[in-house]
Amino acid sequence: MNKNKIVVPLSNNSYEVTIRQGIINNIGEELTLMGVSNNRKILIVSNKQISKLFYGKILNNLKKYNFSAEIFNIKAGESYKNLESLREIYNAAFEFGLDRNALLIALGGGIVGDVTGFAAATWLRGIEYIQIPTTLLSMVDSSVGGKTAVNHPKGKNLIGAFYQPKAVFIDPETLITLPKREFKAGMAEVIKYGVIRDKALFEYLEIDKNRDKILNLNNESLIKIINNSIKTKSSIVSEDEKENGIRAILNYGHSFGHVIENLCGYGEYLHGEAISIGMKIAGDISIEKNLWLKEHSLRQNNLIESYGLPTKTPKIKKNEVKTILMGDKKVRDGKIRFILPKEIGEVDIFNDVEESQFLKYFD
Ligand code: GLY
Repeated sequence: MNKNKIVVPLSNNSYEVTIRQGIINNIGEELTLMGVSNNRKILIVSNKQISKLFYGKILNNLKKYNFSAEIFNIKAGESYKNLESLREIYNAAFEFGLDRNALLIALGGGIVGDVTGFAAATWLRGIEYIQIPTTLLSMVDSSVGGKTAVNHPKGKNLIGAFYQPKAVFIDPETLITLPKREFKAGMAEVIKYGVIRDKALFEYLEIDKNRDKILNLNNESLIKIINNSIKTKSSIVSEDEKENGIRAILNYGHSFGHVIENLCGYGEYLHGEAISIGMKIAGDISIEKNLWLKEHSLRQNNLIESYGLPTKTPKIKKNEVKTILMGDKKVRDGKIRFILPKEIGEVDIFNDVEESQFLKYFD
């Protein structure tokens, strides 16, 4: 097995994630190698900023392999991860005559990936789709695992489906044009994998020389951290595809992260920034519950900060925090479930955190 290919092994719908520099220039070839027939129509969903950078490269290679493709751009930003963008994709799918044999390709970050995945899950009761993530965050998290969704005005990702892609193609070169702030926000998810399952990755990220290489987009280092992250994600998703149990640990830092994104306004904090603060709070709760040592918490927080990410909780009101937490998808039987760290590389799911233990970090 090629070392830059990771299989996501699932009972019905296993697929491969390929990580390779320059793969963005070879999508037609990759599809052909996968056995995708070139008589299938392809609709690429992206946004203007991303498609102007990469669509030309993709189209050239698709044409070379006799595929016919169209592009449809949705508007960029979390506020457009909604039913309106979904409706626009359906309209484009109708106009382009996408039949059951057609293929959607999501080209972009997590928003494009999630909306396109949900469009694929629902158009004609489900057509195949491929993820080409172009942000670090979507490479290591949202493009893999089949969570697809749009937001409802009352909450994030409330309308969605588990629907796995047919393949994921990751080209670290696409990170060159990614704004630095967004790259760093993606590092929060990489750090998350270190804390929840991969101590060796955590320790690799701690080393100054490695951090410099990562922040300078050294290709080998990027492939290493993306590879390690996806291996962890793949193993967790294959254990629990529909999040009935262990998959919830992938949400480490996310409960408070969602609260912060929601109450501070989407855009004020990037997702990765908000979950950085969420991980800090989870670590503090863990100290208080004697689950892990203060020194582990310090190492986690230092690592987060060393990648230019925030750990300071913004001023938000306790009662608002509680309302948002109670509305979260992670609430089961009225109990808020928290993912708390026990060691570097180990977390667990707890539903016995007292209100006073988690509200004390807010005003
Ligand atoms: N982003 C968390 C998950 O895919 O389960």
